[in-house]
Amino acid sequence: MSGLFVELTAPNGRKYSQPRGLFINNEFVKSKSGETITSINPSDETEITSVYAAGPEDVDIAVTAARKAFKDPSWRDMDTTARGDLMYKFAELIEQHKETLATIETWDNGKPYSVALNEDLAEVTGTIKYYAGYANKIHGQVIDTSPAKLAYTIREPLGVCGQIIPWNYPLAMAAWKLGPALCTGNTIVLKAAEQTPLSILYLATLVKEAGFPPGVINILNGEGRKAGAALASHMDVDKIAFTGSTATGKEIMKMAAVNMKNITLETGGKSPLLVFDDADLDQAVKWSHIGIMYNQGQVCTATSRILVQEGVYDQFVKSFKEYVTQASIVGDPFKDDTFQGPQVTKTQFERVLSFIESAKSEGATLESGGEVYKDVGGKGFFISPTIFTNVKENMKVYREEVFGPFVVITSFKTEEEAVAKANDTTYGLGAAVFTQNITKAHRIARLIEAGMVWINSSNDSDLRIPFGGVKQSGIGRELGEAGLEGYTNKKAVHVNLGTKL
Ligand code: NAI
Ligand code: MG
Repeated sequence: MSGLFVELTAPNGRKYSQPRGLFINNEFVKSKSGETITSINPSDETEITSVYAAGPEDVDIAVTAARKAFKDPSWRDMDTTARGDLMYKFAELIEQHKETLATIETWDNGKPYSVALNEDLAEVTGTIKYYAGYANKIHGQVIDTSPAKLAYTIREPLGVCGQIIPWNYPLAMAAWKLGPALCTGNTIVLKAAEQTPLSILYLATLVKEAGFPPGVINILNGEGRKAGAALASHMDVDKIAFTGSTATGKEIMKMAAVNMKNITLETGGKSPLLVFDDADLDQAVKWSHIGIMYNQGQVCTATSRILVQEGVYDQFVKSFKEYVTQASIVGDPFKDDTFQGPQVTKTQFERVLSFIESAKSEGATLESGGEVYKDVGGKGFFISPTIFTNVKENMKVYREEVFGPFVVITSFKTEEEAVAKANDTTYGLGAAVFTQNITKAHRIARLIEAGMVWINSSNDSDLRIPFGGVKQSGIGRELGEAGLEGYTNKKAVHVNLGTKL
């Protein structure tokens, strides 16, 4: 296959034209080397299509395009209300094409179609609209010092932003990065994850249709170690924003050091969920399920360690097992009642299975699942929702991010022990606390080392609220007003109004 578009029919019968190129300067082009990556449907392991994959030379061309666009008055000096309007138009086009975008997302990633359409795509349009609203509200300050001096700040865009996104929320993670970068006047080279290269290319067609000047948004597919590394180490890129694993985040930090790039990192987690004796147990069970099993367990904030106080431990484990069995319906992601589709790739599938083996060999107790789920046509990367108890703190499955429908449960005696256990991790992304005692809830919220705390829920995320981690879960924040910080400089201007000094 060598064309730049291919006509496809998705498993749900939807026909559409799939772009296959690299999107640079508002045009689809082939990679210089001709290299491609193949996209696989994780539900049945068939090949969907292949797309062009960027190498260092292509990254360089995209960065040059983004630099030129950054300096072009048509973008740099665009009226900020007009810039917001452009972003609204982009959001409207995404809304009009949401069924196609959600179809591609489900086909390539394996997430349930109802989730892709009603949650992921709503997140995409919501985020672009939210930041569109900020475009004409970005301003500096006048800072009073003395009558002889006038000092003010200007919030400037950083320049060319490299954005590297993961495969668990391909379009939503793109929107989280595009929104704040665009409304502040930056230009972008975004690299999608090689596991899910398709939906972002369809989104690229809407970039052009919305009317963004060429070079403002460039979108590349390509392997992390080639295209991703070329972007992170490029001397003419001013910022790198990354979502993915902690190990890769550390590599990116090192590469970004070559020209001291501004960085934002959203990385891994092993987020605890604490259930106290005085919790509303039905609520705790319901949210514990969502907190770990949603999106096939492929969520950076997944509450993957459940810690339960001794008085309600047995009852919790029993109710949780029953709830998971009834609510985690595994199946074809295009079917309406499916809660859990396949893992995104064979690699991820095998990785989760290896953690299951590790838990067994280290002596944890398998309460349910723990095996390949074969009832969806015998193919695909499906895993039964898996629960382990009798998990010790030194076990690999207690310490490492699994990124699958896999949870470990352990117990604690006192509040102090709960906090100590919750914080006994190199990560610090999210944490959930279940108690009916509001004083205790807020006390613990302050003591937990995490970027986000959920009281009597898990994994709430709202595009108006800052999202990010502490410790090895990341640097900086996305979403909300806080998301703008990662995309602007504050330039200080000093004006001398006096003559004596
Ligand atoms: P990854 O962190 O290696 O990949 C994420 C993105 O980084 C992709 O776009 C990839 O192409 C890029 N990348 C990879 N190596 C790079 C490099 N050397 N330089 C520049 N860019 C690079 O994650 P991967 O391998 O897909 O998944 C492995 C594990 O990472 C998962 O099992 C999960 O635990 C974790 N993960 C966490 C995510 C999160 O949302 N926090 C998302 C994806 C993965
Ligand atoms: Mg795929």
